[in-house]
Amino acid sequence: MCGIVGYIGYREAWPIVLKGLKRLEYRGYDSAGIAIINEGGQNIYKKVGKVAALEEFAESQDKTGTIAMGHTRWATHGVPSDRNSHPHTSNNNKLSIIHNGIIENYATLKEELISRGHEFKSDTDTEVLIHLIEEIQKIEQTDLLEAVRLALKEVTGAYAIVIMDRENPDQLIAARKGSPMVIGVGKGEYFIASDATPIIEYTKNVIYLNDHEIALVTKDDLLVKRLDNVVQSPLIQELELKLEMLEKGGFDHFMLKEIYEQPRSIRDCMRGRIYPEEGKVQLGGIKEFVEKLKNIDRIIIVACGTSWHAGLVGEYLIEEYARIPVEVEYASEFRYRNPIITEKDVVIAISQSGETADTMAAIEMAKERGATIFGICNVAGASIPRLSHAGVYTHAGPEIGVASTKAFTAQVTVLTLMAFYMAQQKGTITQSKLISLLTELDSIPDKIQIALESNDIIKEVAAKIKDSRNCLFLGRGSGFPVALEGALKLKEISYIHAEGYPAAEMKHGPIALIDEEMPVVFIATQNSSYEKVISNIQEVKARKGKVIAIVTKGDTEVKKMADYCIEIPDADEAFLPLLATIPLQLLSYHIAVMRGCNVDQPRNLAKSVTVE
Ligand code: M6R
Repeated sequence: MCGIVGYIGYREAWPIVLKGLKRLEYRGYDSAGIAIINEGGQNIYKKVGKVAALEEFAESQDKTGTIAMGHTRWATHGVPSDRNSHPHTSNNNKLSIIHNGIIENYATLKEELISRGHEFKSDTDTEVLIHLIEEIQKIEQTDLLEAVRLALKEVTGAYAIVIMDRENPDQLIAARKGSPMVIGVGKGEYFIASDATPIIEYTKNVIYLNDHEIALVTKDDLLVKRLDNVVQSPLIQELELKLEMLEKGGFDHFMLKEIYEQPRSIRDCMRGRIYPEEGKVQLGGIKEFVEKLKNIDRIIIVACGTSWHAGLVGEYLIEEYARIPVEVEYASEFRYRNPIITEKDVVIAISQSGETADTMAAIEMAKERGATIFGICNVAGASIPRLSHAGVYTHAGPEIGVASTKAFTAQVTVLTLMAFYMAQQKGTITQSKLISLLTELDSIPDKIQIALESNDIIKEVAAKIKDSRNCLFLGRGSGFPVALEGALKLKEISYIHAEGYPAAEMKHGPIALIDEEMPVVFIATQNSSYEKVISNIQEVKARKGKVIAIVTKGDTEVKKMADYCIEIPDADEAFLPLLATIPLQLLSYHIAVMRGCNVDQPRNLAKSVTVE
């Protein structure tokens, strides 16, 4: 949930680490800090607030040195403050640490260390770990690498850590378990980071450290071993990431850029996977499980947040076309139940980041019980694809805005492809139907482009409802998960309370909320539930609610009733979620901007939730 960056080499380290922290700020922005070593010793600068506050604070300080590490924090243990900011130091201030994750047994370790005379300067779990390392080094009389290894055997929880020793300025020590870590391999220099974005402009060669591995990094060498002391030969991989993908490219916010990228990201997601003329879907990532797919009893989808909404869309599509029963579960609930899982089950885990702690725990539990795991992930090399037996990448490109947009539509695209693929393999779809669906799917990026052209109308609607205190989103069928996603987008970036509901459920409770102050957004496109949604619109209008309707181009019926209509192109019902989501993303975006909210970094949130 935090971002970490380390550098050792021949260049000035401060600008590299500072820029890296700005790239990782999506992971948390409660405070930031950097430790840097030069001939004068170790300097640590840390400040509550964003990386910019740290930059300003350290402006006139000594920032020279070719070894440094930095941290951007999403607070768990201890309020956001200067003293709880990382890096933290050992009792004798010789060692320093940055950490992403949680040390779960920190309280018992802390008590023991206090009884041995340690004094703590923060409320964090992280500080306990560096004191423990110091203590072990003192008792065992070992070098730092061995002390870190022994200490990590005593802790429970998750970590990606980097450690510096002011008396050994030629080395960094890094380790991971359950939190991501990438090591960039340069010539005479190494980079360490939570993801590849701080590294990409210096080198394309990276190593993804595995869980339970620890690395000793000098400017010319890298030693990786497991916590059981077995030395590893790490695999160097080449990054596909491009620098321009990490920039706003003329847009005011990353979120807006990512909304507008969707015609491209969906095309990238489908590339090489659909052959409309032949009526064929090809998913190389899961093809070795094709026989299993023909005989499974059910599919369980696990995910959190927006990815869970994509899972609900997947449920409609897989049941409709492949005729396989699907259950969609919040990973956080699933992992703490005692669910019935058998070897005949396939679990699909969906995650943009591939690092969500609850989703990872759900995978681990399902795996232990014999299920086959398919991962749907956006970030290449992340933990979830590595934990899965097989999977499909979404190829949406880096998503930097905390509110998920293009990752959602890419997840829905992959689930659509999976539904068609399974249907094709099981023979539950005719060839002519598949050809017609794939031909239309191929044109969806162009239809999304058209949906984006309603931006000006959407802005006008946003201006009318921006001061509302509540908002209801209603849809039926696969329009229901779209309504949930629309509500989540609005609440997370504009802080307006919003609820997504199946339209027919409104009369069982939420209807009590409707009055002239209440905007109700309907997914009212022309599909199988069109007539029924019209009845629900009438129920709202009868109670003076303000209706905003997402309608099919050329609609005349809903227009007679709704206060505002936003058109999207006509499409087969299977593709409704891909199109109807677009105006809802733009609506939330404009409302948030008009309310002066920080769109890309909404309060209290972080992009990847690597803690429970
Ligand atoms: O990386 P993941 O897809 O696993 O993340 C799941 C949720 O944390 C995420 O979708 C969250 O709900 C977003 N802020 C929604 O915009």
